[in-house]
Amino acid sequence: MTPGRKMSGHKGAVIWFTGLSGSGKSTLARAVNVALDGQGWHSFVLDGDVIRHGLCKDLGFDNEDRQENIRRIGEVARLFMEAGVIVLVACISPFQSDRDRVRSLFGKNEFLEVYCNASLAVCESRDVKGLYEKARRGEIKNFTGISSPYELPDRPDITVNSEIESLASCVLQVLSEIKTKGIIA
Ligand code: ADX
Repeated sequence: MTPGRKMSGHKGAVIWFTGLSGSGKSTLARAVNVALDGQGWHSFVLDGDVIRHGLCKDLGFDNEDRQENIRRIGEVARLFMEAGVIVLVACISPFQSDRDRVRSLFGKNEFLEVYCNASLAVCESRDVKGLYEKARRGEIKNFTGISSPYELPDRPDITVNSEIESLASCVLQVLSEIKTKGIIA
């Protein structure tokens, strides 16, 4: 048993939320974080938007930089996991090859991929940050869904539909899968 596990009382794991910008990844990761906290489990959110202001400040949005972004986040998530934390990663991670690479860092019951499924039309209509509008005007290059692809996950552990389902229902689905995997009791 790792020292981290003995202190936190549970083993670490990584819950990886992927989906378009505006698909609800961060909202769901934060809600799961609150729910886990409430039950006494130690979790932490690694949010793509936040990480791009610090650790990955030097990276842009071409394919190579996204690959490096995901690689770094995966490595950081692994360190947190080894410290016994349930890590909730929210980043677009649009490419299957990058998601596969990150998954390969973890054991079968340590990594859970959650696909936040919301259509481009809905994400674009929400346009919480006003980025889709800028991308349509050509002011932002390589924007996921507009001028850069989002490859659908080919084997997510869970798919949540944030267009139809309530946040509470999505949280329950994630918690249930975390339990099924034996990450929490
Ligand atoms: S990822 O593709 O490398 O996984 P990440 O999740 O870290 O992306 O960052 C995505 C966030 O950066 C978006 O939510 C959005 O706020 C911002 N962003 C800025 N430019 C782009 C772009 N070209 N494509 C996607 N997101 C962008």
